[in-house]
Amino acid sequence: MTKKRPVTTWDEMKNIKSTAEVLIPSDPLDRVLGQEEAIELAKIAAIQRRHLLLVGPPGTGKSMIARALSMNLPKPKQEIRVVKNIENSERPFLEILDENQVHDEDSIRAESVGKIMDPEDAPVNIAERLGYLCKHCKKYSAPTDISCPHCQKSKMEVGQNSNPFGDIIGQLGGMLEAAQVVVGKERVHATRMINGAEETVVFERAGDKIRMLDGKSLQKRSQLLNKSNQKVLIKLNRDPFVLATGASETELLGDVRHDPYGGHEKLGTPAYERVIAGSIHEAHEGVLFVDEISHLGSLQRFILTAMQEKRFPIAGRNPQSAGAAVKVENVPCDFILVAACNIQDLEHILSPLRSRVIGGGYEVLVDIAMPDTPENRAKYAQFVAQEVTMDGRIPHATTEAVELIISEGRLRARSDNQVNALTLRLRELGGLIRAAGDIAVMNGDSLITAEHIRQALKRSRPVEEQIKDRYGSYMKGMSKDVSGAQKETSQYYLGNEHSDDQMFN
Ligand SMILES: Nc1ncnc2c1ncn2[C@@H]1O[C@H](COP(=O)(O)OP(=O)(O)OP(=O)(O)O)[C@@H](O)[C@H]1O
Ligand SMILES: [Mg+2]
Repeated sequence: MTKKRPVTTWDEMKNIKSTAEVLIPSDPLDRVLGQEEAIELAKIAAIQRRHLLLVGPPGTGKSMIARALSMNLPKPKQEIRVVKNIENSERPFLEILDENQVHDEDSIRAESVGKIMDPEDAPVNIAERLGYLCKHCKKYSAPTDISCPHCQKSKMEVGQNSNPFGDIIGQLGGMLEAAQVVVGKERVHATRMINGAEETVVFERAGDKIRMLDGKSLQKRSQLLNKSNQKVLIKLNRDPFVLATGASETELLGDVRHDPYGGHEKLGTPAYERVIAGSIHEAHEGVLFVDEISHLGSLQRFILTAMQEKRFPIAGRNPQSAGAAVKVENVPCDFILVAACNIQDLEHILSPLRSRVIGGGYEVLVDIAMPDTPENRAKYAQFVAQEVTMDGRIPHATTEAVELIISEGRLRARSDNQVNALTLRLRELGGLIRAAGDIAVMNGDSLITAEHIRQALKRSRPVEEQIKDRYGSYMKGMSKDVSGAQKETSQYYLGNEHSDDQMFN
């Protein structure tokens, strides 16, 4: 394997043969090129729990910074559950557990599982009563085998099935399996002597194994029984990065599912089980990332309320649904808001929301370029290594290829009116690397070379430029396209015999 090392200076960059040797930093924030101010503020935001508004053009690292910020946060410490309210089922309670409580419960659950054993290791009479052992030939098979696969005799007890054709039932085995008919009992109680005292032991079916529950695991099981009337809404182990696409109110704020039986005690699904968390709740203790925040429109004011209160009720949001009657109050949603938008949309952000961000966080205009220094050029090598690794389907690049990418970066910065600079519109530059990588792969080459980059540059030009090349101008290209569809032979010919070809020729 190639030995990897950090490449932070131009000299180091000159000493490598390919980007395979470049060490990719372990801190996700160090993987972001440029954007020093935004990164500085993201670090502060993570420690001090501040909000962040990132403004700037596409593909410059806004989402990347938001994600990296969430990875710098401490792990969530709370698990949130909704609990059945026996007196008023439409007002489920909330239960918040800390790490220790969740771990204690996990270990109780682990102990309540009992001991899983092969049917051959269980007492013979137990294996027989659970349907694993044929009483005729004393051979083992699954309880779903109605007839013994060894002696073909029925494993059913006389009277177990009231079917008058019980004797031929074995021949219908396949069909009955599909109908989930099973031989024997689901669970058998037995006793055993431990240190002179009698102890109840339960054996039960567990697929093709048998589960044995001793006194201790039975006790753990009953401890868990009073936990059966609750649902985990927000897990302790969760991703602290939540993307709010913002398309719908229910997705953002949560909902209570409809139940055609109106939560009926026997037929319906209990209200607490139908409660669904919104993105604002899932982001509790983490980052709520709202891309293109202005597109949220009026939903922005809910985010504002949630930020102020740090809790937000979950209620059924469709008035026609049985869920509308259900409400859980005070569901925690203590998130760090990281919002992104481009410059044009800034004015569509609700002003109290912006003022909230300014009051409890930072706004930052991301950079579109960074100075063309030897260190930053070396950073481009790191960028190429990152893109190659992330893509996973293309080879690394030679130093010459990286140099060509650097020149392209300089050129692109210039078209943004940034002189002596390297572009930070890196999503597009990533596209160039992938295109060059694809060419290398198709050629069977083990590295991306300068030549691949040159070819990719030709290939990855925007279609407008390609039109300009072929037809002289974009407008001419447009008219060609229209006239093609208007050929006289075309059934969609709309008249106008003098196609505008003549105008341009
Ligand atoms: N500053 C950067 N440093 C390293 N890689 C970057 C940077 N900016 C963009 N990239 C690359 O481009 C990809 C897209 O960047 P990202 O999604 O963060 O852009 P964005 O600013 O959120 O764009 P949009 O406004 O379209 O959402 C990243 O996954 C990364 O591969
Ligand atoms: Mg983005």
